[in-house]
Amino acid sequence: MHVKSVNLETVCGITSKLPENEKPEIAFAGKSNVGKSSLINGLMNRKSYARTSSQPGKTQTINFYNINDLLYFVDLPGYGYAKVSEELKAKWGKMIEKYLKTSKQLKLVFLLIDIRHEPSANDKIMYDWIVHQGYEPVIIATKLDKINRSQKDKQLKLIRSGLGAKSDTRILPFSALSKQGLEEIWACMEEALGF
Ligand code: GTP
Ligand code: MG
Repeated sequence: MHVKSVNLETVCGITSKLPENEKPEIAFAGKSNVGKSSLINGLMNRKSYARTSSQPGKTQTINFYNINDLLYFVDLPGYGYAKVSEELKAKWGKMIEKYLKTSKQLKLVFLLIDIRHEPSANDKIMYDWIVHQGYEPVIIATKLDKINRSQKDKQLKLIRSGLGAKSDTRILPFSALSKQGLEEIWACMEEALGF
């Protein structure tokens, strides 16, 4: 799909009411710093429309990006960010949960995992929770440029087994630097949306 227009239409904090959008939504979940906002920029073909940072905990709200007046990318706050209070962490968790539970337009959930690391306990909880909500998450293994080509298959296997993902769960490697994997991610979205 050719992205002609992008607009950060709604920003929801812990006390905000979630929007009742009419158009399909695609959500990006994953731990803090894994590369959610960078992937969204890659998909939007914008360098830094979605704010990114080398410091974890950049996105602290649920951000709805209107794409071509056709669909929304939903950038979720990262979990597992150590520097905030337990209370705030719990509130963010609840906010993410509430969104995944109540959105009527959510068509696809991407769960992002850093290709270099074995999934954390929080990643596993998130995966199980998404499945529990009735979604079939597609895993995106981020930061592909940070490993050697020879390590790729081993790391993808580690992610699958670490999450306890079903054998037919898709795991797509991606690099925000080289944009490798972008086409496959688009194809996956277009399939889920029936475009
Ligand atoms: P939060 O908003 O804190 O939850 O983080 P996020 O998941 O949105 O991560 P973000 O996109 O802000 O990226 C975090 C850091 O990782 C930034 O310094 C990015 O430049 C870097 N990064 C993201 N994706 C890639 C990638 O594919 N390759 C490399 N080398 N760096 C990446
Ligand atoms: Mg972010």
